Amino acid sequence: MAGKITVNKIQKYKENGEKFTVLTAYDYSTAKYLDEAGIDIILVGDSLAMVALGYETTHCIGVDEMKIFTKAVSTGVTNAMTVTDMPFMSYNISLEKALENCSLMIKNGADAVKIEGCNDYIAEVIKRLTECGIPVMGHLGFTPQFLKTLGGYKIQGKTSDETEKLLNDAKKIEKAGAFSLVLEMVPENTAKYICENLKIPVISCGAGRFCDAQVLVSDDIFGKYSDFKPKFARKYGDMKSLISECAKQYIKDVKSGSFPSDEEVY
Ligand code: KIV
Repeated sequence: MAGKITVNKIQKYKENGEKFTVLTAYDYSTAKYLDEAGIDIILVGDSLAMVALGYETTHCIGVDEMKIFTKAVSTGVTNAMTVTDMPFMSYNISLEKALENCSLMIKNGADAVKIEGCNDYIAEVIKRLTECGIPVMGHLGFTPQFLKTLGGYKIQGKTSDETEKLLNDAKKIEKAGAFSLVLEMVPENTAKYICENLKIPVISCGAGRFCDAQVLVSDDIFGKYSDFKPKFARKYGDMKSLISECAKQYIKDVKSGSFPSDEEVY
């Protein structure tokens, strides 16, 4: 891969019609391997609340935890862009608080932050962050931090009214200065329409084939995170079985006395 991924390179991908890739990571070694594999953007998603910490939703994670995970991931990364998800209510209380919390992620190694939703206030937050030198990735469609008001894990942008609202919000986010936008759980024709009408790259998370990039939760593609697999996630491995097999073999070897061997002692 040719050097550090920047917002300019991400924009060039869109202009050249070249797809780019995004995966989540929450720890140093995973981030390092993803970076070495050539992933363009590593997202320290607040999905880590569920995937890495076992919480039921993303609501219970805060700025202090996201700082720690951001530091770990960014330490493992050389070329990829590290984007940190701003956790629930960390940017909604006041503009001042939003700027302060987002700046903490940059100070801990993030190259950019991601924030969910759109209204006049959020657009102002994006504008001010960008003016302060903090690149922002927007997030529309199904937005997990709004799970309770959305009434569950529901596909967004199904009707023409919803599609127009999504496009208006997306344009507002673009105008405010965001460098990219995640669209989650949106029908692919809706996502295609939005993607064609935006200058900034659109990253699909279950939004079909016509977006500029794809993002998935890495534990889903590794087959590590429980038995639940969203329809849009493709499983490339079976880490759950691998971990279980390794642990069982280790237990067997210790109990039988075959570990440690002659070579494994001082
Ligand atoms: O938290 C997360 O992992 C995300 C992506 C799935 C888009 O927001």
